[in-house]
Amino acid sequence: MSAAELETTAKAMVAKGKGILAIDESTPTIKKRFDTIDFESTEQNRRAYRDLLITNPGGNRFISGMILYDETIRQATSDGTPFTKSLIDHGIMPGIKVDTGAKDFALHTNEKITEGLDGLRDRLAEYKSLGAKFAKWRAVITIGGNTPTQACVEANVHALARYAGLCQEAGIVPMVEPEVLMDADNTIERCYEVTEMTLLALFSALKKQDINVEHTILKTNMVISGKQCSKQANIQEVADQTVRCLVKNVPAKLPGIVFLSGGQSPKLATAHLNAMNASNPELPWPLSFSYGRALQEPCLSAWAGKESNIEEAQKALLHRSKCNSHACTGTYNADMESAT
Ligand code: 13P
Repeated sequence: MSAAELETTAKAMVAKGKGILAIDESTPTIKKRFDTIDFESTEQNRRAYRDLLITNPGGNRFISGMILYDETIRQATSDGTPFTKSLIDHGIMPGIKVDTGAKDFALHTNEKITEGLDGLRDRLAEYKSLGAKFAKWRAVITIGGNTPTQACVEANVHALARYAGLCQEAGIVPMVEPEVLMDADNTIERCYEVTEMTLLALFSALKKQDINVEHTILKTNMVISGKQCSKQANIQEVADQTVRCLVKNVPAKLPGIVFLSGGQSPKLATAHLNAMNASNPELPWPLSFSYGRALQEPCLSAWAGKESNIEEAQKALLHRSKCNSHACTGTYNADMESAT
């Protein structure tokens, strides 16, 4: 893929009113999601679920790409069409999660380092041949009394930069995802500090390793109160602090920024994104979504593992996709939720 194609892919990922659907849960994670609907996590059941997400009629109006998992990129729809072909035929770009998970960071209690660099060049070549246009690597940063340490942030962003270089060499757009977790009792101010520290380290590491940020998408957390914090920042505060942090720490020439939902409720994740775009129409980059749970939760509950519920489940996914599409242009409002 030429530089022009990388640029085209990156821009298409964040095309106006479109975002990414993350369906790249690892096998242990999708089992946890299936446990919530009391449904067994077998390969065929996982295939059936991903089938309904991938073939959702009309999804391509709001979704530019889907992030797949290694098992999923090799599977096919019930009529035998490879998932990647089905996506491409509907104008949706296949992406692929390529890290192999966050493992305990040696000598650093409660901190994680993401693994997956060994053999990555060969895996990327294979994913490219299977149709992947972009990739994802998630680093996890944990807020605690003594964390994150500089050592953990540095180790993770170094790996993110090495991954990004291998992706660009392979003609695949890297989505770099440093996720500051929201499952703690920290204030929004502390989340701002840690997100800033992480983004500064990330863009410094990308620069040192000659990564072209014009061919890179940032996937990040919002600046938000920890889930267990007694004082929860409101929607506008989250929007303002997130935008302030990004404007200060992300190069203007990046083609786009997308958010993870990180455990926010589906409606709140939409409202936060909408407030950012409604209050800031002139940002240097599009702000869009790359949600997993916040797009899938209502769909998964409506499905409940039953074939007879597929249509309802797909409608639920389409509804959330549409609401988030509006949030990308700051035109979402809560009335849209009751309209369906
Ligand atoms: P959530 O939106 O569920 O946080 O997942 C997005 C994702 O891809 C995390 O890596």
